[in-house]
Amino acid sequence: MSGRSRAATRWATRAFCVSVAGLALAGCRGGTPVSRGHAIFTQQCSSCHTLTGRETDVDGGDLAIARMSVADLVSFARVMPLRHPLSRTDALAVARYVHARAAAR
Ligand code: HEC
Repeated sequence: MSGRSRAATRWATRAFCVSVAGLALAGCRGGTPVSRGHAIFTQQCSSCHTLTGRETDVDGGDLAIARMSVADLVSFARVMPLRHPLSRTDALAVARYVHARAAAR
């Protein structure tokens, strides 16, 4: 491999790591991975809610329109008509995920 392409590979690797670290930081504040919240949202919330930031035609409405606090999202998450009630940890994980998605709009 020439020095030039090795440098390019190194650069690409670094860019990849920086973006992964950025996602991890955004998602892992407090040690709860955003991927866990994403999985919970998909399984437990997405039948009634979307996260597009626009009005959508779903029963519960779009959760990225109102920028709710994590604490409020936790309270709502725990009183929703879910198939499987959420543990505290999971309610927090899904609230953080919704909060991060709403903030990214
Ligand atoms: C069976 C349907 C259903 C499921 C499943 C569901 N919700 Fe809801 N949710 C609703 C309805 C209906 C409302 C009331 C919407 C309204 O008043 O406009 C609501 C309201 C909310 C609100 C308040 C939104 C606002 O703008 O006031 C939040 C936050 C919320 N839900 C979060 C969640 C989360 C997080 C989950 C998954 C853990 C979830 N919901 C699962 C039906 C559901």
